[in-house]
Amino acid sequence: MRIGFDPESGSHYIARMAMRNIIIVPDKQLRLVSKPVEKITPEIRALADDMLETMYDAPGIGLAAIQIAQPLRLITMDLSKEEGKPEPRVFINPEILSSSEELSVYEEGCLSIPEYYEEVERPARVRVRFMDIDGRVHEEDAEGLYATCIQHEIDHLNGVLFIDYLSKLKREMVLKKFKKAAKLAAK
Ligand code: NI
Repeated sequence: MRIGFDPESGSHYIARMAMRNIIIVPDKQLRLVSKPVEKITPEIRALADDMLETMYDAPGIGLAAIQIAQPLRLITMDLSKEEGKPEPRVFINPEILSSSEELSVYEEGCLSIPEYYEEVERPARVRVRFMDIDGRVHEEDAEGLYATCIQHEIDHLNGVLFIDYLSKLKREMVLKKFKKAAKLAAK
């Protein structure tokens, strides 16, 4: 249980965390462009908490709100090592300000494309601006796994998936597998 405080209304509340369902391909919602978060309300705080809980349970290292069918520019992430202390992070309205010309390759996966991993090449470093859950604006230089993860998650906010960077053949093979599974599940 987490006690929340809403500075607007001056009231305290109990933040009830809940697990949400993660939508998977070929769900069309994953192609939506998410809307900016206008104001950090108790609902937004609760949504971020739910996203963290859902992400840890999956388990995953990053989650965008659209993956739980909420088209808002909100991301959660935890890049701490398994043995280490959890480092939950929330990114509101994140933006990439600049990207390095140098590229790096990481094997990526996505909770919305379960059990599929493939190497993706992206800028090795990016400068990112975002708001935290308390409304403070940050600018950070990201590299390594952080750079890859923040680019992957910001892509989600724009309806882009990591399979979009693969060859058409690979992408269609993956999508076909999930379309078939979806059809079977609908029966
Ligand atoms: Ni993803």
